[in-house]
Amino acid sequence: MRALTFAQYGPPDVLEVTDIPDPHAAAGQIRVAVRASGLTPSDCRLRAGLFRHLFPLDLPYALGVDAAGVVDEVGSGVTGVRPGDAVFGMIDLTPGLVGGANAEYAVLSAWARKPDALSWEQAGGAAANVETATRALDRLEVGSGTSLLIEGAAGGVGTVAVQLAVARGATVIGTASARNHEFLVELGATPTAYGAGLGERVTALAAGRVDAVLDCAGSGSLPDLVRLAGNPGRVVTLADMNAAEYGVHLTRLTGPDADRQAVEGLAVAADLAQQGRFTVPVAGVFPLENAAAAHQLSETGHARGKIVLTP
Ligand SMILES: NC(=O)c1ccc[n+]([C@@H]2O[C@H](COP(=O)([O-])OP(=O)(O)OC[C@H]3O[C@@H](n4cnc5c(N)ncnc54)[C@H](OP(=O)(O)O)[C@@H]3O)[C@@H](O)[C@H]2O)c1
Repeated sequence: MRALTFAQYGPPDVLEVTDIPDPHAAAGQIRVAVRASGLTPSDCRLRAGLFRHLFPLDLPYALGVDAAGVVDEVGSGVTGVRPGDAVFGMIDLTPGLVGGANAEYAVLSAWARKPDALSWEQAGGAAANVETATRALDRLEVGSGTSLLIEGAAGGVGTVAVQLAVARGATVIGTASARNHEFLVELGATPTAYGAGLGERVTALAAGRVDAVLDCAGSGSLPDLVRLAGNPGRVVTLADMNAAEYGVHLTRLTGPDADRQAVEGLAVAADLAQQGRFTVPVAGVFPLENAAAAHQLSETGHARGKIVLTP
C-alpha cells in the first residue's frame, strides 16, 4: 500500500510516499480503507529527529496515528462492527512510537462509528485529539460548573477540548492570538490573549475563580498557569517538558507516569457531533503527495484546528 514515510531525519522534504506491506487486523483490531488521516505536531518532531536520541526509530518510518475510513478487515474477538461500516479511530499508542495511519489502509485498536455530521476529513483528524482531550479533562475532573482555562485553545487539541469541556457543563476561557478570538467564541469559550498579563486578564474574566487549567501549548507559561489554578495538581500539560519542575502532570500514554488511553471519548464525541454540539475544525487538507506542505503548516505553530491528509 501507499504510505507516508521518511527514510532519514530532516526537513519536510524528506517525506515520501512509498509502498510498504499491507497491515492486517490482529485480534481486537480492525483495518480500514483510509479516507482521511490526521497529522500531529509530534509527527513533525519525529521526522525532524528531535526524539532520535531518546527514541531511535527503525527507518523508514510510517507516520500517522489516527484515521477515518471504511472497515475492510475485522480481527478475531471484535464485535459490533462489520466490513463496509464507516468508522474513525486510532492505532494503539501504548507500546510507544508506532505509526502508519497516513496511508491507504490503517489498523485501528479503538474506534467509533463515523457520525454523518462529520465529513471524512473531520472524522479522519478527530480520534487522537478526542482521546487526548478526554484524558486530560478526566484527569482534571472537569464537569458541570468547572471554571476551566485552556492555554492554546485554537489548535488541534484545544478546539476539541473546548467543546468537550463545554459539553460537560464547564465554563471555558481559552487563549489564542487575536485572529482566533471570534472562532473560540463560536466553539463556546471566552477568548483572551496568551502571553504577558495573562494572569490579570484571566482573573478578571473568571471573576477570580479558576478551578482547572489545561495547557495545550507548552510555551513556558506553567508558572502563571499554576498561580491561576492555585495548585499545581489542578494543572495538566500536554507539551511542557519542564512540568515536573512545577509539580504539574504531563499527560502521556507511555512511560512510568502514563495515563490510561481514554478511548471511550470517541463514542462521546460522535454522539455530540450527531447532536450538533461537536465539530472538528480543519486547518487544511492535503493529499499524501503534498504532505511536506502539511508539515510546514503544522510547524508554524499557528494552525487553526486540525491538519488532515488524504490518501
Ligand atoms: N501529551 C500528549 O498525549 C499529547 C497529545 C497530543 C498533542 N500533544 C502536544 O500538544 C501540543 C498541542 O498539540 P496541537 O495538535 O493542539 O497543536 P497545534 O494544532 O499545532 O496548535 C497549536 C496552537 O497553539 C497556539 N499557540 C502558539 N503559540 C502559543 C503560545 N505562546 N501560547 C499559547 N498558545 C500558543 C496556537 O494558537 P494561535 O494560532 O492562536 O497563536 C495554535 O492554535 C503539541 O505540542 C503536541 O505535540 C501532546
